[in-house]
Parts: sequence; C-alpha cells; structure tokens
Amino acid sequence: MNLVELNDSLHDCQRCQLSTGRTQVVFGTGNPHASIMFVGEAPGFYEDREGEPFVGAAGKLLTELLRSIGLERSDIYIANVIKCRPPNNRDPLPDEIDTCKPFLLQQIKLIQPKLVCTLGNFATQTLLERKIGITKVRGQVFQLEHFVVFPLLHPAAALHQGNLRVPLKEDFQKLKAVLDEMSQPPILPNASSAPTLSDSQKSPKDTPADPPTQMSLF
Ligand code: URA
Repeated sequence: MNLVELNDSLHDCQRCQLSTGRTQVVFGTGNPHASIMFVGEAPGFYEDREGEPFVGAAGKLLTELLRSIGLERSDIYIANVIKCRPPNNRDPLPDEIDTCKPFLLQQIKLIQPKLVCTLGNFATQTLLERKIGITKVRGQVFQLEHFVVFPLLHPAAALHQGNLRVPLKEDFQKLKAVLDEMSQPPILPNASSAPTLSDSQKSPKDTPADPPTQMSLF
C-alpha cells in the first residue's frame, strides 16, 4: 500500500469514537519523500475544518520556527498521532492512541524519514513508547531502529504559556545543529585498522530490538 492508498483507506474510518464528532480525517501533508517528518498530537478546530495538520495558530508558529532554521513546510512531512479531532480539543485517550498509532507507524514506514521530530508529550511518548515528560527529553536525540526521534516542545504549549517561547526556539536551534550534524559525511575509521566485532563480542546494544538509546551529540 502506498501513502495515497493508506490515506484513502482511512477516509471513512470508524474505528474509534472520534469518528462521530469529526468533520474529516486529517491524514497528513507535505513532501512524501521528506527525510524530516514532524508529528503533532491531534487536529484542532481549523485542521478538522480544512483537513490539514497545523493550519491554525500553532501551525503558523510552526511555519515561522521552521523558517528560522531554513526549512519550508514543503521540505517536510507533517502528521499527527491522532487523525481525528477530539471533542473541544481534549487530550487523546489511551485507546484512541492505540487505535490510531498503527497508521502513524505505517506513514513513517512509507515515507522513510531519517529524523522524526515529535511535538509535545503525546507524539514523543507514542514513538518512544515511554511515559516520559517532554520537558525531560526535549532537545535530545534518540536512535530507534530505523530513524532518529527528536522531541521538541509543542508550539501550542508556547502559545498558551508565553514562558515556553524561548525554550521552543532553543529546541529548533538544537534541531538545526542535529540536521547539520546528520548531513556531515560519517567519519569512517581506516578500514584496515578498524576493529570488527565477532557476534559473541557484540553487546546487547548492537541488536535492533533495543529500547531507544540516547545519542551523544550533545
Ligand atoms: N496541534 C497538533 O498537535 N496538531 C495539529 O494539527 C494542530 C495543532
């Protein structure tokens, strides 16, 4: 299944109670070949009306922050954990996240981004599969099996709490540093002198089924 087919398959989704209150499913938008993907929480009023993620006030702020580090929205792909607007923008419920998560994972699998930027608690906890607060992990780099997760504060949080504006800008500056680092060619050890590990020497860290590990970029 490709991204368009996945989107079509969810058009009339009735898997959870959110289907009764939404105007439409908000699947995602942007460059389907992007190497950077952003994941938010759930559609709000304007996203539900227009069918696109981050088109309201938080979206405007997101666009500005992206521009501040040289990115346009057309460079990235944006989706949410939850594809339908919760009533009165309440927090998504655990069973709604469980129901919708497989579709986010399918989107990621189809887009194959190198870096997934999670905005706020829900996206971060969903992808790291850990109940950890965004303020603890923001601005850090987590290597998963197929991509890197970089958690940032949610722009909507900074709209509600003015004191989070500066930390949010700092998260984007750190993101720029991560992107610069990731775009450097890797420094490979001299092939003839590079030690190799036999399977028996490999630590459990080398196995793909590991929990997320923090990279030491900072
Ligand atoms: N907040 C989100 O998490 N997603 C949107 O699409 C809009 C606001």
